[in-house]
Amino acid sequence: MLQVNPERFLKTLHQLREFGAARVGKGVVRPAYSPQDIAARDWIAQQIRSAGLDARFDPVGNLFGLATDKSLLLGSHTDSQPEGGWLDGALGVMAALEITRASKEQGGPPVSVVNFQDEEGRFGVTTGSAVWSGQLSLESADQLEDRSGISFSDARKTLGDRCGDFIDPRHFNGFVEMHIEQGPSLDRAWQKIGVVTDIVGIRDLNITFCGAQNHAGTTPMDARQDAFQALAKFNQLLNDRFRNIVTPQTVWTIGHVALHPNAASIVPGKVMFSMQWRDGDAHRLLQMENVVRDTASDIARDQNMALSFGVMRGLDPVAMDEKLQQALQTSAGEIAPNAWRSMVSGALHDATNVAALMPTAMLFVPSINGISHDFCEDTSEDDLVVGLRVLARAVDRLS
Ligand code: GLV
Ligand code: MN
Ligand code: MN
Repeated sequence: MLQVNPERFLKTLHQLREFGAARVGKGVVRPAYSPQDIAARDWIAQQIRSAGLDARFDPVGNLFGLATDKSLLLGSHTDSQPEGGWLDGALGVMAALEITRASKEQGGPPVSVVNFQDEEGRFGVTTGSAVWSGQLSLESADQLEDRSGISFSDARKTLGDRCGDFIDPRHFNGFVEMHIEQGPSLDRAWQKIGVVTDIVGIRDLNITFCGAQNHAGTTPMDARQDAFQALAKFNQLLNDRFRNIVTPQTVWTIGHVALHPNAASIVPGKVMFSMQWRDGDAHRLLQMENVVRDTASDIARDQNMALSFGVMRGLDPVAMDEKLQQALQTSAGEIAPNAWRSMVSGALHDATNVAALMPTAMLFVPSINGISHDFCEDTSEDDLVVGLRVLARAVDRLS
């Protein structure tokens, strides 16, 4: 049976945090293609080589560690949100690395590693795995821009001559991604492991209201075309209209707002904001899209705003592979008896894209207080090691 080395695993996880370590908590700032992200990837490539695997960057910066034979693929991503936690994605990559090392040392099954690029969506939604899996063409990805107008095409050039060809997915017979839950279910129930049954779908749409910029002291209230007021009314009306469509599991977020010119004494003339919604039912996602578009049009008409929509981005809900789930469930039952559950993932993962290519599954460990996408994100080291052991046991079982 594969014996992992918890001390070595935790040490590499802490070493990885040094790339882009925030001054607050255990957080990291390591957005895709930033110098910190690229330095981390170079370090991981060295780790991959020292584990006896073939390290390869593909054209978008996904980093693979290939076993010689056809194998199971383990991993996740190491890019972070603008204010990210130290475990989101990093955990899955470092767990994968430890299992490949342990397996090599003990003559276990071949295991390959992947570290996907831009999972956190600086450019798209899980961009690196979306391109690798063929869900998004490289040509379309290259047109994507981040909030400062830098294109994906330019960003990936920063990788220079590291990049080779795309890796043939036929090299792998399945993918398992270990991750933190990023929500409160396991922590609240004092459970150690979640085996994912499905990953919800997501839609992301940028919306712009254009009114009229003017003097905040002299423009009468009834003569204003105030973009902030339009956004505030949109938000209220949308929440109201969603009530008949959503379930307690549905979520929606206006997470980014750019108000122009964003000054105390100017009636704002323009607002661009992100509108994101997530649900496990693709039909509900579509119903919500119709409500979003209709509500924005109604508000634009009532508030005398010009309205424009960006390009809709998204991923559909997906189910995880039954056989891989079973291997994780049995392993969880052995290592964390009565302390695991099957659950839906409300967060997105590269696994969504990879599921289009091969049998795919995920396992979760608890997030303390359910906090993630925040510098305070954390998990007890004991729980990280339980997750590693369940993953290793499942790899053993599947080989
Ligand atoms: C991935 O980080 C997500 O936003 O769910
Ligand atoms: Mn993640
Ligand atoms: Mn994330």
